[in-house]
Amino acid sequence: MLTINENYLKLQASYLFSDIAKRVASFQEKNPQRDVIKLGIGDVTKGLPQACVTAFHKAVDEMAEDATFRGYGPEQGYDFLREAIAVNDFQARRAGISADEIFVSDGAKCDTGNIQELFTTDIKVAIPDPVYPVYLDTNVMAGRTGAFADGRYKGVVYLDSTRENNFVPALPTEDVDLIYLCFPNNPTGSTITKEELEVWVDYARENKAIILFDAAYEAFIRDDSLPKSIYEIEGAKEVAIEFRSFSKNAGFTGTRCAYTVVPIECMAYDSHSKRQAIHPLWNRRHCTKFNGVSYPVQRAAEAVYSEEGKSEVRQLADYYMKNADLVRKEIGVLGYDYVGGENSPYIWIDGKRNSWDFFDMLLDQAGVVCTPGAGFGKCGEGYIRISAFNSYENVERAMARIRDALA
Ligand code: MLT
Repeated sequence: MLTINENYLKLQASYLFSDIAKRVASFQEKNPQRDVIKLGIGDVTKGLPQACVTAFHKAVDEMAEDATFRGYGPEQGYDFLREAIAVNDFQARRAGISADEIFVSDGAKCDTGNIQELFTTDIKVAIPDPVYPVYLDTNVMAGRTGAFADGRYKGVVYLDSTRENNFVPALPTEDVDLIYLCFPNNPTGSTITKEELEVWVDYARENKAIILFDAAYEAFIRDDSLPKSIYEIEGAKEVAIEFRSFSKNAGFTGTRCAYTVVPIECMAYDSHSKRQAIHPLWNRRHCTKFNGVSYPVQRAAEAVYSEEGKSEVRQLADYYMKNADLVRKEIGVLGYDYVGGENSPYIWIDGKRNSWDFFDMLLDQAGVVCTPGAGFGKCGEGYIRISAFNSYENVERAMARIRDALA
């Protein structure tokens, strides 16, 4: 008899964004005449930067000729891309990351979900609340938690992010081994200062813990004093793994390219308390379970770092940030408390009522899809998240309809 991994039975029925998509599809089926504007999932809407498109086409042409065709590439990514990442995203900000510490992949979702398998199931995991559901669900699947009760999984150390702490969680009061942080934050859109991040790095160094730092939204940081990478903090290379993506900055959600940084000196411990580097373990996993991102996609990603690419990517992020400004302005006028949208494409709004009710009301009365905060955790109850990823015209129309619905 084949038995299943019962940890999967502990999971909530469906993944948040699939659940929302189903509700929206059912609403549209019942109301085919209604025009629905989607400000829910953070999915980009604008075309790829021209520099990426040109590089993409050129690489496809290379694939068409025997002389320039490429078969399997290096699992870790081509050197041309790893080099461009190291120089532009890290060395330019005095964060000393080298190309061999970068692992190119098909998404930060997969990497943030998969990384936990390098660690034992009896470790203590600290996860923010609210949180991008992938961090939590993958730990549930791995058996690192107990049952779900009263909105939370037993055995997880939750790091509350609330208005009281400005949506930057405080250090846990009990010892933890693995810490998930995401800044600019998904879902709250809050940011962390260098000083605040230093506190986490110091904690990890003192407690032999590892920080998994999701920086997928760094391109939206407009305040230069904020850290774009955890490696801007001294000592972070010993205790942090960072996740980045081309999805949100360069519009690659459908093209798929991301990367994970595992510094050579980042260490964990074996059962004899002996230090073990994480880099070779992740490399081993990557080579065994992943066959690399396609050559044309990596060439397209490399073009993000060309002069033309840099300027186009900046314009893309500015475009969405203009949407975010509009959402903030309108929500402020309506008298709702919110955070985010200044250095992030997400605006986290205190709806002053049950967040699924707010979601249903906006869908029903305004034809606007948001994401209910409760879907991101217990501390998200009462909030909704609005994403700035859509056309400016649609965001304008959505905000006008929200104004009417809430008036
Ligand atoms: C979100 O809406 O939170 C993100 O789009 C999800 C993701 O990037 O996987």
